[in-house]
Amino acid sequence: MKFVVFAGSIRKESYNKKLANYIRMRYQQKAEIELLSIEELPFFNQDEEENPVSAVREFKQKIAEADGIIIVTPEYNHSVPGVLKNAIDWCSRVDKVMTNKPVMIAGGTMGALGTVRAQMHLRQILNAPGVAALTLPGNEVLIGTIHQKMDEEGNLVDEATIQFLDSVMDNFIGWVEKNK
Ligand SMILES: Cc1cc2nc3c(=O)[nH]c(=O)nc-3n(C[C@H](O)[C@H](O)[C@H](O)COP(=O)(O)O)c2cc1C
Repeated sequence: MKFVVFAGSIRKESYNKKLANYIRMRYQQKAEIELLSIEELPFFNQDEEENPVSAVREFKQKIAEADGIIIVTPEYNHSVPGVLKNAIDWCSRVDKVMTNKPVMIAGGTMGALGTVRAQMHLRQILNAPGVAALTLPGNEVLIGTIHQKMDEEGNLVDEATIQFLDSVMDNFIGWVEKNK
């Protein structure tokens, strides 16, 4: 089982980047998980979609080769950050590498709601015809007050959150295997 994980934030100290890396580390015995970055992706430009720069080609290739995708996103103004939407827009064109690709979603905010509005919107985006990804039903990993649940190294330290994430990861792996 081969997964890719990436965060919808590009800032250095991003909690969601740290969470993406934590997921890669914690579940490495359960699946091969590669951490991808969306930092090098330029703004989507339809003029470039047939022959995009190498960063886009490589990102799309990794998505195409994966059995599943884990997206870890912050919430920006009640939706997903533009950088995440941009990455998905690239994937939605020409070879449409997210079509029928299983996706698990997680996210954390410093506020109480833990990205619930961003995740609802993300599910809607992933359901667009050009994207057409398969989103793991239920299993909403909404981590509020994430700054109190993570240590300096980016490890989750809140036991209830860790246990829930463990169960969602198991559900995702089982669901991907069943649908393969
Ligand atoms: C432009 C912007 C918009 C934001 N909008 C929201 C929001 O709608 N809801 C929310 O819970 N937090 C919001 N936040 C706070 C983010 O959740 C917080 O900055 C979080 O740490 C960002 O994720 P990161 O640490 O992975 O970069 C916003 C932050 C920024 C910079």
